[in-house]
Amino acid sequence: MRFKDKVVVVTGSSRGMGREIAIAFGREGAKVVVNYRSNLEEARGVENQVKIAGGEAVSIQADVSHPEEVKKLFEETVKTFGRVDILVNNAGIERPKPFLQVTFEDMEEVFQTNFLGLFVACQEAVKIMQKTGGGKIINTASVRGLDYMGRVGNMDYSASKAAVINFTRTLAKAVAPAICVNAIAPGPTETDMAKTWTAEERAQKERKSRLGRLMQPAEIAQAVLYLASQDGITGEIMVIDGGYSLGSD
Ligand SMILES: NC(=O)c1ccc[n+]([C@@H]2O[C@H](COP(=O)([O-])OP(=O)(O)OC[C@H]3O[C@@H](n4cnc5c(N)ncnc54)[C@H](OP(=O)(O)O)[C@@H]3O)[C@@H](O)[C@H]2O)c1
Repeated sequence: MRFKDKVVVVTGSSRGMGREIAIAFGREGAKVVVNYRSNLEEARGVENQVKIAGGEAVSIQADVSHPEEVKKLFEETVKTFGRVDILVNNAGIERPKPFLQVTFEDMEEVFQTNFLGLFVACQEAVKIMQKTGGGKIINTASVRGLDYMGRVGNMDYSASKAAVINFTRTLAKAVAPAICVNAIAPGPTETDMAKTWTAEERAQKERKSRLGRLMQPAEIAQAVLYLASQDGITGEIMVIDGGYSLGSD
């Protein structure tokens, strides 16, 4: 059990990748905080799965786009489990639209959730980890955040993930050596987010992947656990996309 009794906060873990990440940590004996925004029932389902897998779990509501709720999430985590060893910033949204239709409010919502919420969560986690001797932070970017991969119909999302990548590398410098900070950059992955794509968009993504398929949430979870288990990796952006971002021959 690689993470026996480690306290892990996974933001947005009621569904999708976050759900798989929470359960995978449970299998390794961790104490997992299942953060959810709106659906307590789904969160409780994940909580139960973590417990069945061999871990401990608690569901805590917090909308990461509100700084005071992120602070409350960490306060409640410390009240319940006493510390934070690993933070996985997973919560994220997209609002795909053609450029001239993107409103200031769309931009604000996407940045508040994907980047500013992550920034506040990192601050809260670092405050706790610095008192308890260190920890690991894994941020969720996207292949769309790589400097050559921005998607025209999703530029607020792409820009927010590029911010996550740059921030991750800088934070890694700021909090070394006690805390390792890395990011994952998944390619198209089979979650509810994938259900918003048209059949043609999905087929195009599958064609572009060198593996000819979407990534599975469990594959993303394994990459997160790998980064959380390493003491010698920091400031790294791990691309998990089946070769999607490799471009043409
Ligand atoms: N799927 C992909 O192809 C893909 C590719 C690259 C990167 N990513 C990134 O991977 C992460 C997970 O994506 P996913 O595909 O698993 O997404 P998903 O299936 O849409 O699930 C998103 C999760 O985040 C939560 N969430 C959203 N906004 C939140 C907020 N303000 N506060 C707290 N929780 C919030 C959702 O909770 P609710 O149920 O309350 O909405 C849900 O649990 C995201 O950061 C996404 O950008 C996804």
